[in-house]
Formats: sequence, structure tokens, C-alpha cells
Amino acid sequence: MDKLLIEGGARLSGEVAISGAKNAALPILCAALLTAEPVTFTNVPQLKDIGTLLALLGQMGVKVERAGDTVTLYASGLNNPVAPYEMVKTMRASILVLGPLVARCGEARVSLPGGCAIGARPVDQHIKGLQAMGAEVRVEHGYVHATVPRLKGARLFTDMVTVTGTENLMMAAALADGETVIENAAREPEVVDLANCLVAMGAQISGAGSDVIRIRGVDRLHGATHRIMPDRIETGTYLCAAAVTGGSVCLTGTSSCYLDAVIDKLMDAGCEVVSERDAISLSAPARLNAVSLRTAPYPAFPTDMQAQFMAINCVANGVAMIRETIFENRFMHAVELQRLGADIRIDGNTAVVQGVARLEGATVMATDLRASASLVVAGLVAEGETTIERIYHLDRGYERLEDKLAALGAKVRRLT
Ligand code: UD1
Repeated sequence: MDKLLIEGGARLSGEVAISGAKNAALPILCAALLTAEPVTFTNVPQLKDIGTLLALLGQMGVKVERAGDTVTLYASGLNNPVAPYEMVKTMRASILVLGPLVARCGEARVSLPGGCAIGARPVDQHIKGLQAMGAEVRVEHGYVHATVPRLKGARLFTDMVTVTGTENLMMAAALADGETVIENAAREPEVVDLANCLVAMGAQISGAGSDVIRIRGVDRLHGATHRIMPDRIETGTYLCAAAVTGGSVCLTGTSSCYLDAVIDKLMDAGCEVVSERDAISLSAPARLNAVSLRTAPYPAFPTDMQAQFMAINCVANGVAMIRETIFENRFMHAVELQRLGADIRIDGNTAVVQGVARLEGATVMATDLRASASLVVAGLVAEGETTIERIYHLDRGYERLEDKLAALGAKVRRLT
């Protein structure tokens, strides 16, 4: 298994390009299931999760053409509306095929994702919504089996804000008979990007980006071309990486408009952040101030940036309180950060981080995608060498991570 070796202490500087957003590309690629016409996507990041999804779509009868960051999907031959356990278990987001398959084929068999490192993560809200739209849903042998002649528009209310739940139901509703209203909808920018793609395919959607989304179902959708939005979590991760090293970087192909909560915290930490139309520059002081935060659905602070901020707080001046409100078990990086010498106390869903003067390199193990990113951020500032094991998690969500970091001056290499 690959490992990442980081020699800490290099101050990051220079320019790096941000890739397309994983969490936008995954639902948007699934949207191609809704039409028999070809759909072309640009700015698709080259990530393991994207490869997994394209393999899954291919297995369903979708023809996949990929050249660089452009992907064209032809779902005219869609003939096998099944997502098997072997694929879903490696990537929870595979559940995003459920809504489009039921809408287009009147049937879907999708494996339950099961637990994952950061918590139980059920899909009951996805199922509840489809049932409200008239689908008969049985959960048997670990699979969700949904059938319906045609979905009917309905008023849907999710018990909590769910990102992929909102996306699944929005895609299902695009081909339903009549109007669907999703209340308590997720407002994440990736939901808006998906809505924009669906509208380009002929869907009638309003309200995406607010907590009430209205979808007037149409009989058919058509082909389109769509550019995937920049990855706000990759952007935030590089901002943290630069900040922790006292660095000065410019990230291109991205925008601060999706990152208000994160940039606010970086400025509280003492960084100077300048936003341009398609770029963000950051310059950091030699030592950051500790910043407390609480994760919550967009536009509040994203749970996917919590681990990276824990890492920067480990060496900041002062004490930070970090509250995680989205997932019940998302502090696994804390014990690994402690191996590097961090002072972190966990009490339920709150972590208290007392900044220390320095971290020391050690061997640590990644447990999930963003936890791995936090270990990279910490490794960049730790004295000596940090070895990060199980970096397949990083490959799921960060395109060419070691190349991009090396371009900014980090001393990092992959051991295969
Ligand atoms: C998405 C993101 C993930 C991010 C998360 C929260 C993708 C591919 N992944 O995950 O990176 O960390 O949003 O911003 O976009 N829940 C239920 N029942 C459901 C659905 C969700 O109980 O049917 C709970 C979850 O367990 C969790 C909370 O709701 O506690 C929010 O989860 P959700 O927004 O659905 O996360 P994902 O969409 O899986």
C-alpha cells in the first residue's frame, strides 16, 4: 500500500490550480442516467472515487468516454439498474444512482452503503422521499429495491439536512409526473451545481441554494455540456496547508464565494486572504492564532474542513474548541495528531485543542479522506519526517496531491 513521506518545515509558496469538485462531479455524473442522449462534463477531477463511479455506470450499460478532465456519458444503452455491494461498499456516494435509476427505468436495486469510518450514515431519508413519490421500496438482503411505473411529484421534508439525499430526490423529481417540493433541502454549492446541470438538460428547477427546492417534472431530459464547479474542500485544504507553514500561496481555478465560513476562520487565525474572480491568495503569519469552530450544514462551517482546522490549531497560539455536529464519529484524526505531539482532549462531540510550540514527525495512519488531509497538514509543519499510511483515502478525493504540494515547495514523496 502506498505511503506518503513528508519532511516538515518547508514554507509553502507559489501557485497551484484547484481541480473540479469531487462532491459535485459524483451526483452530476449520475444525472447522465436520466437521459438517453449523450452528456459531456468538463473539469472532472481524476480521482479514485470518480473511477469507481464510472465503472459502476459502465456496468449498468452506460458508455463512458474519458479524455483528460472531460467525460462523455451515453446512457442510451442503460440496461442493468443495479449497484452491487462490491462497488457501493467502497464508495457511499454510489447511492446517488438510486434516484435517477428509479426515475428513468422505473426500477433500481442498490446496495445499502452500510457504516463507514465516520459514523452510521443511513439512507432512510432517500428512501422516505422516493416512497412519498409513489415508489414501492423494499429493503432486502442488504439491497434497496425500488419500483414504480412513474414517480409522482410530492411535497418532501427531510428530517435533517442531507446533501446526497437532496441530490437524489432532485434527480428523481426531474422526471416525475407533476411538481415536487423539497423542504429542508441542503443548500450546499454542489446541490446548486447539480441543479444547473439538470436545467441545462431540460429540467425545470427553482430554489436550488435555498432550503426549498421546487422541481416541475418533465417527460424527458436531453443531452448537455456542463463544467463541474471547483472543489471548495480541496481549496480549503491547500489554504490550511499554506497557513500552517506560514506560507504565501495563490490558488487558481477556484473562488472564495463557496468558502466564506472557512476564509473567515483563516482570517481570524491571522491570515491575509485576497479573493479575485477565479483565484484566492493567502499569506500567513509565522504562528497562527487558535480558532474555535462548530460544523453545520452550508453556509456554516463544513464538516469536511473540520479535521484540517484541527491540525492547524495543534500548533496555533491558544486554545480552540471544535464542535462536530454532522457526524457522530469524526474525530479519529485526533489520536493520530496526538502521535505527532498534539494536545487534544475529546469530550463527546467537542475537541479541545491546546496549541503546542511544535509537532514531531512520526508514522500515522489515515482513517478517512479528510482525516488523511489533516495528517498531511500536520506533517507539513511537524519537525522531521512524517509517514502517512493508507493514503488510498487521499487518492479518493485529492487529485495529484503530492505533485501539487511539491509545486508549492513541500518536501513530500510517495512510497509505492
Ligand atoms: C455529503 C458529502 C460529504 C459531507 C457530507 C456533509 C458527498 C458525496 N459527500 O455526504 O463529503 O461530509 O455531505 O456535508 O457529497 N443522514 C441520515 N439519513 C439519511 C441521510 C443522512 O440520518 O438518509 C444523516 C447522516 O448520517 C449525517 C447527516 O445526516 O449525520 C448528514 O449527512 P449527509 O448530508 O447525507 O451526508 P452525505 O450526503 O452522505
